[in-house]
Amino acid sequence: MLCSMTRADAAQRITNLREQIHHHDYLYYVEARPEVSDAEYDALMRDLRELEASFPDLVTADSPTQRIAGTPTDIFKPVEHHAAMLSLDNATSPDDLREFEARIGRALPGATFSYVCEPKIDGLGVALLYEQGRFVRGATRGDGRTGEDITPNLRTIRSIPQVLRRGALATAAVLEVRGEVFMPRAEFAKLNRALEEAGTPTFANPRNAAAGAVRQKDPAVTARRPLDMFLYHVSRADGHAFASHWDTLDALRVAGFKTNPRAERCQTLDAVVACCERLERDRDALGYDADGVVVKVDALEHQRRLGSTTHHPRWAIAFKFAARQATTMIETIEVNVGKTGALTPTAKLSPVELAGVTIRNVSLHNEDEIRRKDIRVGDTVLIERAGDVIPYVIQVVLAKRPADTQPFTFPSQCPACGGVAFRPTGEAYWRCTNSACPAQLKERLRHFGSRRAMDIEHLGDSTIEQLVDTGRVKDFADLYTLTGAEIGALDRFAEKSAENLVRAIGASRERGLARLLNALGIRLVGERVAQLLATRYGSLDAIAAASESELGEVHGIGEEIARSIVAFFKDPTNQRVIERLRAVGLVTDAPVAPAGPKPLAGKTIVLTGSLPTLSREAARELIERSGGRVVSSVSRKTDYVVVGEAAGSKADDARRMGVTMLDEAGLLALVRS
Ligand code: IVH
Repeated sequence: MLCSMTRADAAQRITNLREQIHHHDYLYYVEARPEVSDAEYDALMRDLRELEASFPDLVTADSPTQRIAGTPTDIFKPVEHHAAMLSLDNATSPDDLREFEARIGRALPGATFSYVCEPKIDGLGVALLYEQGRFVRGATRGDGRTGEDITPNLRTIRSIPQVLRRGALATAAVLEVRGEVFMPRAEFAKLNRALEEAGTPTFANPRNAAAGAVRQKDPAVTARRPLDMFLYHVSRADGHAFASHWDTLDALRVAGFKTNPRAERCQTLDAVVACCERLERDRDALGYDADGVVVKVDALEHQRRLGSTTHHPRWAIAFKFAARQATTMIETIEVNVGKTGALTPTAKLSPVELAGVTIRNVSLHNEDEIRRKDIRVGDTVLIERAGDVIPYVIQVVLAKRPADTQPFTFPSQCPACGGVAFRPTGEAYWRCTNSACPAQLKERLRHFGSRRAMDIEHLGDSTIEQLVDTGRVKDFADLYTLTGAEIGALDRFAEKSAENLVRAIGASRERGLARLLNALGIRLVGERVAQLLATRYGSLDAIAAASESELGEVHGIGEEIARSIVAFFKDPTNQRVIERLRAVGLVTDAPVAPAGPKPLAGKTIVLTGSLPTLSREAARELIERSGGRVVSSVSRKTDYVVVGEAAGSKADDARRMGVTMLDEAGLLALVRS
């Protein structure tokens, strides 16, 4: 059928197919709102490929079929930039931003400035050249004057238009635009997982992954690396001039480029500061790494008059977010014992400042993690602390490894009691097998008294240390036989505080079954499973009597958890402790279910910020007692977000998604309703 087509018909059909495909690429990759199914899209591509195969002389470089058709190269040709790709001056505080405004005010007396703020993407600066609306060349920043020609690789990025859509920029004889190529975080995580499975080295961060991808010798490899690009600058548009940066961003969008949806126009410097703070707070939700906010003078006439130094434009400044990565040295690796006897390695670091906190320790998790990253004492490591997340080691800086380091060998003895340590097959952790190990006991007591378990106020770490070290407390039950005089004899205890602790321990007798189960430190039984067990069985005796298969049938309790529960209650040491707990008067039944209606039945609720009278714990209990469920992040399915003082981005999420927001009084009213 194809062969019977005339060349002219084929040319027309090819043009038509390409236009359709470009259009669908734009909808999918730039606007993220596709209008056709994958199958329909694939059919268009197939038709185009077939036609081009029959009429090879009609193939052009900007055809969608050519996105990954470039041939591998050994070298990238140098590209002289039409105008230098400059760096940016930095601001690290609102004061620096005000100083920036004062500086431009002095340079242009009498001018009033408005600004555009955009996330500063942590990617790679790239310049794209279009002739008559067709993409002809793309180059890296290089040293700012000369970059490298990476056209075939950039053609593989689907959000970069091959042919411009509409508007002034689409018709410019020559157009050069600039922006940032980056790898979205989710894609980065996927890529690293795949690399890890294949046993190939992973990338330290999305930026490195993106840099590696654009400099691939083979575009087919780049095509498999999911890159994206935001455009933020028109460096040359023959025959066209815009009044403001904001208008430029509009024109870029109309032409079919992707611009940052979080860009904001600000009329005052106060608004700029607020925007910078907002973006810093939201940085984890952006989906890509941003290391700051670029603040640009909006009026292009102002930009022109302010000009540039050899290093940076005078009309822009980068407000830098607090750094989250740093390098530091591993001084030692310590192994500690957890409450279930698991040996956990912690690296002691040369102290380093990271996002406003001094980091001295970082968990190395387990033996495999140390081996996989080949972390050694004496190594310099790159660490990161993202959002609320605890710091972790990204990778070793091998270039800085001293000559005499040794791979770390995991101890086969408990570093606390000298007992035999053992790593069960299939498990990640080595465990101390000595059930009387004092380090384990201290951890277990700490957990037993913690807020979400028996909630024993005043039972601090140093008290636990002394009680165990003096041999006075050998298990949980011993806590309940302590007298005020005994506690008063410990270091740092006045009579009054000793009495307070005795009272707090006494009060914990009545916490009920769910908390007790959590407090016992049964492997794999945390708050959630404890609650399930308490609701299903109602008493400790009933749980102790349940078989593995019965337990496994409780919704939410798997085989492994069931096995761990049975093993716990079978252990004679544990049986003795439970007997003694009963003897000292602990309530081992579920608390009587509160009578009355459950006004929050089936509702999911997010708590954010601090409430005027209720602690976080108290609010949670109240909600759960009323039948509601507290979840940690806001989605459209969330019923209420309870907002307190200094609420974070969750309040913004709620506003954005239209979720009902309540204050403490509102929550209390609901519960009482
Ligand atoms: S404007 C002359 N806007 O940051 C205009 N740059 O440290 C200067 N960058 O080389 C660039 N996001 O690669 C601008 N929204 C943004 C940016 C951005 C990231 C990069 C760009 C630049 C580097 C300077």
